[in-house]
Amino acid sequence: MAFPRQRMRRLRESETLRRMVRETRLSPADLVYPIFVTGGRDRRQEISSMPGQYRLSVDLLVKEAGEVKLLGIPAVILFGIPDRKDERGTAAYDPDGVVPRAVRTLKDQVPDLLVITDVCIDEYTTHGHCGLVKDGRVLNDETLECLRAMALIHAQAGADMLAPSDMMDGRVGAIRDELDRHGFSALPIMAYAAKFASCFYAPFRDAADSSPKFGDRQSYQMDPANAREALREIDLDIEEGADIVMVKPALPFLDVIAAARTRTTLPIAAYQVSGEYSMIKAAARAGWLDESRAMMESLLSIKRAGADVILTYFANEAARLLNESRT
Ligand code: PBG
Repeated sequence: MAFPRQRMRRLRESETLRRMVRETRLSPADLVYPIFVTGGRDRRQEISSMPGQYRLSVDLLVKEAGEVKLLGIPAVILFGIPDRKDERGTAAYDPDGVVPRAVRTLKDQVPDLLVITDVCIDEYTTHGHCGLVKDGRVLNDETLECLRAMALIHAQAGADMLAPSDMMDGRVGAIRDELDRHGFSALPIMAYAAKFASCFYAPFRDAADSSPKFGDRQSYQMDPANAREALREIDLDIEEGADIVMVKPALPFLDVIAAARTRTTLPIAAYQVSGEYSMIKAAARAGWLDESRAMMESLLSIKRAGADVILTYFANEAARLLNESRT
């Protein structure tokens, strides 16, 4: 019983009909807005490779966070740009570091907005790697101690969720133990479980000045060729106590998001990373793509693939559009 009895176009006739049979819908509630926090006051520096994104000092972050909340976005994720970096990334576990200060202020001034923190030392190390380095190698087990310390400080500052992004083995378990031992058993972990060694992080590394000064991240981040291995990473993070598992980047790894969706009943997050954002911005600026439509189509595809939560630099723009339109 095919054509002419079956006509797929019947249900595409009007927007009202299309709206009724639409399978996937985006909502501001799906989105998390990543923000770069820096020291000082009244600082708002545009990131040249990420038009429309800024490094914000804590006072301006509060204003921004208020807007995020008004738009109906439930959470921000914070990345710290420290005043000083060293070999061991000590600014990452300083209780008066830029992220703990930002968390305390946000929880005080915008209490209903969830504050997620990125737990990883790469923004704080002079070499730019996500772990301690010895003889040109990134150490795994020694790095776990830094991550425990960093996680505890974020928890004590009042973070609502921690997101380890370093890809050291065993870090979710180590952080879970540390939190539980200090009375933070109710604090959830969103693990960057399947994080690929991607070229699409380049604008972020420009923003955080965190490009590795030697070598690359392929000894800890995943090979983009591997989907089965991504499922092993996800399984392990769940075993170690992750509450949400993330796939990152998003658009080049939609197959991994879809596979993760059938693999686990946990919520799945996907990170539309800096390069995915900047690519759309650049093409739009050149007049080659309609920015809003490219933004919405990419976000929708990430949700359709199976993501429940989408971390995106487009969060505010997308939420604004969603709030204006009936989808
Ligand atoms: C590591 C981290 C990175 C990103 C999020 N957490 C950088 C990296 O692994 O090089 C990238 C996010 C993006 O590109 O938007 N702290």
